[in-house]
Amino acid sequence: MIAQRPPMGWNSWNTFGDKINDSLIREMADLMAEKGYRDAGYEYLVIDDCWSLRERDAEGRLVPDPQKFPHGMKDLADYVHSKGLKFGMYSCAGVMTCAGYPSSYDHEFVDAETFASWGVDFLKYDFCHFPETGDCRTRYQTMSMALKSTGRDILFSACNWGQHEPWYWMRSVGAHMYRSTGDIMDNYISFTDIFKSQLNNLGMSANGCFNDMDMLTVGMGGKGNVGLGKVCTYEEYRMQFALWCLAGVPLMMGADLRNLDPRYLALMQNRDLIRIDQDEECRPPYLIRKGNITASNPNPKEGEYPWREIKDASFTFFRHLSHGEFALAYVNMSDAESRIHCELVDLGLPVSSGMALEIRDVFTGEQLGKKADYFNPVVPGHDMKLYLCRLTKARE
Ligand code: GLA
Repeated sequence: MIAQRPPMGWNSWNTFGDKINDSLIREMADLMAEKGYRDAGYEYLVIDDCWSLRERDAEGRLVPDPQKFPHGMKDLADYVHSKGLKFGMYSCAGVMTCAGYPSSYDHEFVDAETFASWGVDFLKYDFCHFPETGDCRTRYQTMSMALKSTGRDILFSACNWGQHEPWYWMRSVGAHMYRSTGDIMDNYISFTDIFKSQLNNLGMSANGCFNDMDMLTVGMGGKGNVGLGKVCTYEEYRMQFALWCLAGVPLMMGADLRNLDPRYLALMQNRDLIRIDQDEECRPPYLIRKGNITASNPNPKEGEYPWREIKDASFTFFRHLSHGEFALAYVNMSDAESRIHCELVDLGLPVSSGMALEIRDVFTGEQLGKKADYFNPVVPGHDMKLYLCRLTKARE
């Protein structure tokens, strides 16, 4: 079965946009194999938009741009496969791709056949230039059937930006993941907005079809194709990666792996985080509480208080993992340090249960021992705490 767990890989769009070519993709394949990404689980290497010529050939087939891909796609796919990776490509449900290249509306079957003949294992399928008269659900269904008709196992990554509430129906048309939001930009506001927009849809994701909150910008540092606004700090990127793992969604890296800061390599290969993301039960996190944060207001203007209330800024989550483990997260989306409260009764452990949680900090590895009754860590602004826990008796 395809996509038993949230798909993992690398996609060219966030960093390279239209500046893609054969040698770049081969270099990424080498790095994914040599630098531990493949062994950590990142298996799909995906070429996004801008790989083809502007016209189909005489038989109506898509043609790779010979300047960018002089050896053709089959040769490149063979190379990617030789590195123990899977090969992904991109098309679109509309009449042109987002960047204006030919796309698959009314060419679904011939294009699926072409992709299969090249050895493609993953198709990202976008939604630009979709005709007013077209029916979105039916057309995704058409491409899904076209991919199946090839007889090749091809992961169908439907990119619909959350239009037409895809969380309700993408699983039913055979998609293996579906983009649920607009494009991520490489800044803090963008990824936190994306995460918050999906709070009600985290459960619309499980084995075989996952909510896709878009490719990661972790480690991009403002460089590349989606840099906009303030560059993220290490803690902010760590929050992005940890939130995606907590949500159990696809992990498609977007940074330039050729010069990625080793801290981000370590973060995106962190075994505990990946284990949480890939947990076999694929359960969504349980939102314990969304709360406000009260922070000081040191120089109040007239009529203001010496404190300020920041709305919907703290989030506590609890996620059931397999084999008796749990993840517990405290997220501070405000700019002010805050103690974030969690009474264990709110996650189903009243004092009368006599139970406690044995807690380990995922980011530091520190064993924090047993917590009963409550656990209220201090969390800096724009940061989060993530713990792995097991149930234990409060007194033994
Ligand atoms: C859309 C998608 C992006 C990317 C671009 C390519 O904006 O949402 O992820 O694929 O198109 O043009």
